[in-house]
Amino acid sequence: MEHLLSYFTPEKYQLHLKIDKHKKTRQGTVVISGRSHVKNIEFHCVSTEVDYVNLQSKSVEKVDFELEDGVLTLSEVPSGVLTLEIGFHGSLNENMQGAYLSTYKHQNREKTLVSTQFESHYARECFPCIDEPAAKAVFELSISIPEKDKDIVISNMPIKNVVKNTTFFEPTPRMSTYLLAFVIGEFQSKTIKNQHGVDITTFVPLNQRPETIDFANEIAAKSLDYYDELFGTPYPLQKLDQVAIPDFEAGAMENWGLVTYRESCLLADENSSLDTKKSVAVTISHELSHQWFGNLVTMNWWDDLWLNESFASVMEYYAIDAIHPEYNIWEDFFTGGCLSALRRDALLGVQAVKQSVNDPAEIATLFDGAIVYAKGAHLMLMLIRLMGEKQFFKGIKKYFAKYAYQNTEGDNLWSSLRPFANFDVKSFMHAWISQPGYPVLTDGVAQRFLLSGDTDQTQWPLPEITDDMSGHYLLNLSGPEFSEMLEKFPSLSIEQRLRLLIDRMLLAKTPIVSSSSLMELLPKFKTEVSAPVWEILLSIIADLKLFFPTDSEPEKKFKNFLIDLITPNLSRLGVTPKPAESDSDQKLRQILLSLARYAENIPVLEELATLYSADYLSINPEIRDAVLSAKLYLEEAEMFDLYLKDYQTLSDPELKFSLLCALTDAKLEENTKKLLSLLKAPEIVKPQDHLYLYIFLRRNPKTKSAALDWLISHWDYVTKMAGEKSIEDYPRYTAGTIKTPEEKEQFFAFFSKMSDVPVLKRTLKIAKTEIDARLKLIETDEKSVQNYLK
Ligand code: BES
Ligand code: ZN
Repeated sequence: MEHLLSYFTPEKYQLHLKIDKHKKTRQGTVVISGRSHVKNIEFHCVSTEVDYVNLQSKSVEKVDFELEDGVLTLSEVPSGVLTLEIGFHGSLNENMQGAYLSTYKHQNREKTLVSTQFESHYARECFPCIDEPAAKAVFELSISIPEKDKDIVISNMPIKNVVKNTTFFEPTPRMSTYLLAFVIGEFQSKTIKNQHGVDITTFVPLNQRPETIDFANEIAAKSLDYYDELFGTPYPLQKLDQVAIPDFEAGAMENWGLVTYRESCLLADENSSLDTKKSVAVTISHELSHQWFGNLVTMNWWDDLWLNESFASVMEYYAIDAIHPEYNIWEDFFTGGCLSALRRDALLGVQAVKQSVNDPAEIATLFDGAIVYAKGAHLMLMLIRLMGEKQFFKGIKKYFAKYAYQNTEGDNLWSSLRPFANFDVKSFMHAWISQPGYPVLTDGVAQRFLLSGDTDQTQWPLPEITDDMSGHYLLNLSGPEFSEMLEKFPSLSIEQRLRLLIDRMLLAKTPIVSSSSLMELLPKFKTEVSAPVWEILLSIIADLKLFFPTDSEPEKKFKNFLIDLITPNLSRLGVTPKPAESDSDQKLRQILLSLARYAENIPVLEELATLYSADYLSINPEIRDAVLSAKLYLEEAEMFDLYLKDYQTLSDPELKFSLLCALTDAKLEENTKKLLSLLKAPEIVKPQDHLYLYIFLRRNPKTKSAALDWLISHWDYVTKMAGEKSIEDYPRYTAGTIKTPEEKEQFFAFFSKMSDVPVLKRTLKIAKTEIDARLKLIETDEKSVQNYLK
């Protein structure tokens, strides 16, 4: 890939932007100083018109330029140090990348704000620049807004001064373009200080409850304190702002000093469920760890994106475990991200954690949550446990001291860690980071584990093999060994218990272990009280649904089997939460209630429905989803329209999500029709939430096939609405839910013509192996699984 940095090295951008959210316009001048290395230099510039280019030396000279295919070429510039001024203009878009508009309703009025999303390569959609992570420079930003607007204008750095309607910001440290950000709009905010006196301010839109700000401030302050200490280099800015943006493509973005979030990823208070608090907490600690891994020290190029994301994805758990040990947040990693990584990484064609990129459009596909985030995090954890935490973080301190404000590759990190390890960190980690997949160990022999049941020649240097969750591998125990471990189950550590079940579950997806053995396994857990163990049982049960066609006799039996399975615990805990209950019991109840809903356990659903209140916030947050869903199940004709109306008028992101979840369970034809029409109603379900709606509709047997029909007939609409990063999620999730040869054929009849499209290529290839493995499993195991219940 061509790097524009080799033609011109920028040192400083003085960027002035005039932003008018009413006219949806963006007009600017940028004065770029730096050093040219060739006669014709180039800048990235997309969706932007260039008005003029001047060379500022003793006298101002015009420079010839040409703008083509997103590249602005300046010809015949002198070599060496120079300063250019570029005038440009363009519009503000509504597609959640570059500089974009976001809207929400407050007291029946539409409010508009402006935000930015520049990662991975969208700074070029706002102003001409060398939009590459290695092209670090200082940014001096000023922004003018229409005089009548009362908006807050914030950016990475503190405000230097405000002159009339123009806000001038302090210069940034040397940093990459993808981390620049600004937000313009009306907000409510609160500020606190951390131990180092950094001002931490959280901004939320006017339609949110101000009480939802404090939790975010507190987690941010404590995370910064934690990292200041652990990384040895304190957070270098005087302030840290966090902003909730009503339209947001990803979950959150780590812009230096101005972290932006999807509302559901930042807002929480005592009305939120523990799950929401935990996910807000890890999201914040993830983004704040990027203030070091990513912002202070940045990957040279996107192929080392894992240096940002794998690290942030492991640090988020370290920080939250230190701040809220009672969350037992590591358990969430093992039952969540870690499991998803082991699942995805068992498919042929999956990417490695370190993946080269050839086409800018492919940058988007690097952010595979299961691989670059979760597998990467698991590999980091494996390394940290091998080295020991103390030794590891000694190396990390050296790394930050040495490379602050610079760019690195994986090897720089490995050499910083080497003096603190008693093995060759680089050769060990390189093999794990740059090869897809992982091994399964059978009688001491390691071979690549693939869901197809095949294997290949890939080899990994093995760490010391342990039976906790440290290693990114599977242990294939023999029948007797497995039974012996089960016997000892209560005396095993939580990680040993999770590994035993996770390994078994994954092995059962291959010919190595039969799916019916999972059916035999489940009744042994009737009296198990550990929530994380049940989390895995829930995954096992979800996998087993594959063998029970909707509305069939066997499915009925399976549901009764599940009712039997959950009854002892449910009788013990009751449907209603008790005041002094442990977090684990609360979580367990949630899991049991979701199974009760699937199994149509009527008495439980009836009891839940009595806890309904039209004032949703007054329902206990730990069972709110279950209550809303039971009420709709029992009284769909009366409740559907009410939920739909409230979905449109409420602003609390957790409530909205719960309502959407409940609504998409509808069975009556008049309602399923309305649900399908929501797929093309962005004024009701925002584009940022469209994927969830689609996933939920694929989950509901009544809308499942219509949802795929819709996707195929509206593919152009979806590609225009979804950003580059999300588009592959549609075929990816669809492939995850295909269970019949007919659907497989329908899927590929449409998508195979896209098998060369850069953003879809890999996902479509994996889809094929994934669906084939699933159909084969149904063929081989369906009978025996169903027979278990005879
Ligand atoms: N840097 C990413 C956000 C991002 C991802 C921007 C892809 C552009 C393209 C951010 O740090 C991140 O990883 N966010 C996660 C949430 C996090 C808690 C895992 C996300 O958005 O899903
Ligand atoms: Zn991240």
